[in-house]
Amino acid sequence: MSTSITLVGAGHLAYHLGKALADAGCQIDQVFSRTFAHAEELASIIGAQPITSIKAVENRSQLYIIAVSDDAIEKVAEALQAQIGQDKIVVHTSGATPATILAPFFIRYGVFYPLQSFSRAKETRFQDIPICIYSNDAQLERQLSALARQLSHSVEVVDDAERKALHIAAVFANNFTNYLFHIAHSLSNEHNVSFELLLPLIQETVDKLHHQPPKANQTGPARRGDLKTASQHLAALAPYPEYQQLYEILSQQIFDLYHK
Ligand SMILES: NC(=O)c1ccc[n+]([C@@H]2O[C@H](COP(=O)([O-])OP(=O)(O)OC[C@H]3O[C@@H](n4cnc5c(N)ncnc54)[C@H](OP(=O)(O)O)[C@@H]3O)[C@@H](O)[C@H]2O)c1
Repeated sequence: MSTSITLVGAGHLAYHLGKALADAGCQIDQVFSRTFAHAEELASIIGAQPITSIKAVENRSQLYIIAVSDDAIEKVAEALQAQIGQDKIVVHTSGATPATILAPFFIRYGVFYPLQSFSRAKETRFQDIPICIYSNDAQLERQLSALARQLSHSVEVVDDAERKALHIAAVFANNFTNYLFHIAHSLSNEHNVSFELLLPLIQETVDKLHHQPPKANQTGPARRGDLKTASQHLAALAPYPEYQQLYEILSQQIFDLYHK
């Protein structure tokens, strides 16, 4: 798919996806954001026109990528259809949102969901990021696959039900673990020990996942059934009731997994 693209959205995802698409030789026609500085920052890097109104979107692109907050996709799609018509090809980039949210507005639609956690401030290697694509139209699905393969070695067709499950799994694997890292960071800071000391342990936890499933890698007081150690930890966490609550729930679930 030698493609001309309009990016509707200029947040974390659009920033990285837009750069990867431009690097792969796609022509990015326009970048929309409500905030001119956001549209301008990305558009200037990828040689596109920055716009701040959906009414300024032109209908010359072959593909329109909606990369706005999940809650805004439907409204933006409706406004976009009024502007470019129902015949244009439109995809969104959300893991949590069904492709069918676009069905009332466009005849051929789909999803282009790169499964990674993107932050503007951190560069990313798109080649290693799985891209989950889906379309209601078999030919478009092949075209989206071909486009995705220009960016990444890892491209999968994932339907709405599968993508929903994958997104929930990703919340556990990334969002929740990162919150647990935040707790570890804040506890170590408060007790004047360096969080850096934990980095090799965190790295090893991830490295082991390449060799065997997480259930086989579990260690710690709850896994061993060291209930005395677990109660000492719980007592030490009394000043932090929210951490104490999480410690108790997680320990119970780990204990039950191996001892019941
Ligand atoms: N970040 C990730 O790691 C990641 C990974 C995979 C998929 N995704 C998906 O990609 C999409 C964008 O996520 P993101 O992380 O890039 O979000 P983000 O950084 O918060 O950016 C959100 C974008 O949506 C725009 N927006 C929000 N509400 C809007 C509205 N009511 N009308 C018009 N535009 C609106 C924002 O406009 P302004 O620029 O004016 O604020 C901004 O351009 C989401 O569907 C998300 O699920 C994100």
